[in-house]
Amino acid sequence: CRIRHYKFNVVLKNTTRLCASKPIVTVNGRFPGPTLYAREGDTVLVKVVNHVQYNLSIHWHGIRQLRTGWADGPAYITQCPIQPGQQYVYNFTITGQRGTLLWHAHILWLRATVHGGIVILPKPGVPYPFPKPDKEVVVILGEWWKSDVEAVINEATTSGRAPNISDAHTINGHPGPVKNCLSQGSTSRFSVEPSKTYMLRIINAALNEELFFKIAGHQLTVVEVDATYVKPFTTDTILVAPGQTTNVILTANLSPGKYLVAASPFNDAPAIAVDNKTATAILHYSGHLSTAATKLTAPPPKNATPVATNFSNLLRSLNSKKFPANVPLTVDHSLFFTIGLGVNPCSTCVNGTRVVADINNVSFVMPIIALLQAHVFNIKGVFTDDFPGNPLIAYNYTGTQPTNFQTMKGTRLYRLAYNSTVQLVLQDTGMLTPENHPIHLHGFNFFVGGRGIGNFNPKTDPKSFNLVDPVERNTIGVPSGGWTAIRFRADNPGVWFMHCHLEVHTTWGLKMAFVVDNGKGPDESVLPPPSDLPKC
Ligand code: C2O
Repeated sequence: CRIRHYKFNVVLKNTTRLCASKPIVTVNGRFPGPTLYAREGDTVLVKVVNHVQYNLSIHWHGIRQLRTGWADGPAYITQCPIQPGQQYVYNFTITGQRGTLLWHAHILWLRATVHGGIVILPKPGVPYPFPKPDKEVVVILGEWWKSDVEAVINEATTSGRAPNISDAHTINGHPGPVKNCLSQGSTSRFSVEPSKTYMLRIINAALNEELFFKIAGHQLTVVEVDATYVKPFTTDTILVAPGQTTNVILTANLSPGKYLVAASPFNDAPAIAVDNKTATAILHYSGHLSTAATKLTAPPPKNATPVATNFSNLLRSLNSKKFPANVPLTVDHSLFFTIGLGVNPCSTCVNGTRVVADINNVSFVMPIIALLQAHVFNIKGVFTDDFPGNPLIAYNYTGTQPTNFQTMKGTRLYRLAYNSTVQLVLQDTGMLTPENHPIHLHGFNFFVGGRGIGNFNPKTDPKSFNLVDPVERNTIGVPSGGWTAIRFRADNPGVWFMHCHLEVHTTWGLKMAFVVDNGKGPDESVLPPPSDLPKC
């Protein structure tokens, strides 16, 4: 195992997209940022130096961070932010993981431009559980706003209304051709050689959009999601939510030419502003760049729920001898969390109300010092550990809406004993509108035992849970007006954030955290904090 050193200089960089230039916050001047490469077992040291005027922190999304919560990154959860002019070294070891993940800023809306891929190769000499592709390519999907992204969310926070949607989606930083724009070069290109195989490491780094991804004419064989191997299956469309990653194998076996690559939004919420913007790129067979016409593809419509459901249902853990699915078969904590949107009164807001979001009717309030510090050093008054394990108000999730949309505020955590097992049913409430919420849990992978539409039935639904080869991941879409059941073992002491990975919903309060106690053994406690841990 090696030690890998990276330096992330966070700097403003004037960047041109959609025919206009603006300064954006970047790592090392790049958008998307640099890909971090490592092998399973390596220790990674990333020195982050903050040269911009914003407070900052970086999250290594999906890295387990066993006992090293100090390196996880969510601001005010595991660390105070890195202030302007300051630096911090993220120091973590990659244990029992290989595949594709992503890193991103974890404060305000900086992740819009501060993100990049993480590629974890298997240990030396360990093959993939599928034929080795001839080449590997990182494909990062994102969003682009013409205006300043921090201004977009500040306006929404002040007014109490929903923020503006982005002006484009992007594939490796580019939206595709722009109408009436002379400065082209705005299309990403992937060149392939006939009959060779490629592994595309697809990452959704967008702030607020789940995305379909498709390549004209070509089938994609899914082999991995969220850095866990799956039973391979073939499809023409994949769905990837913000925070999720999907590795697919592509064989360049069609007649040489140019093929359109498309990333388009999935959102089947009836009451959400229409966003049909499709990002495009070109897959071209080498030697056929300029001659042939591009073969087109029609992305699924924005509300293509059946395409999304079908894709989700095909995902299964590989569950081989080498990569067993260690699903917890007993449950110590059986939790039921409702997730959704609500409205609170707001005297300074334009409509007298503010859109809020909650879990079990609690809209999470960010603390002013990091929760992990408060936990480890026993600082009182920062959080309470009385987060409700069940909703306090009995909603009818998909039927008549309750009259009271109001939520309560709190910095409430749910306490788990070290190594206890958790079953968590996440139920979309359909308050204001039913909507698909991609929920991300820090510090753990979890198994997705079941999912359904409508109200979860605690008597009958658990009978059909898959506890043999459920897909293992770190971010899962809870279907609109439906539920998802996950299981995990609380084998990582610390404070672990859980939130909707649609950034707008996190901003509104759709977040909470688990506090996991130390165990008794020598390897069962949070490690001491590094000496350069930022102070609030
Ligand atoms: Cu990728 Cu808490 O986020």
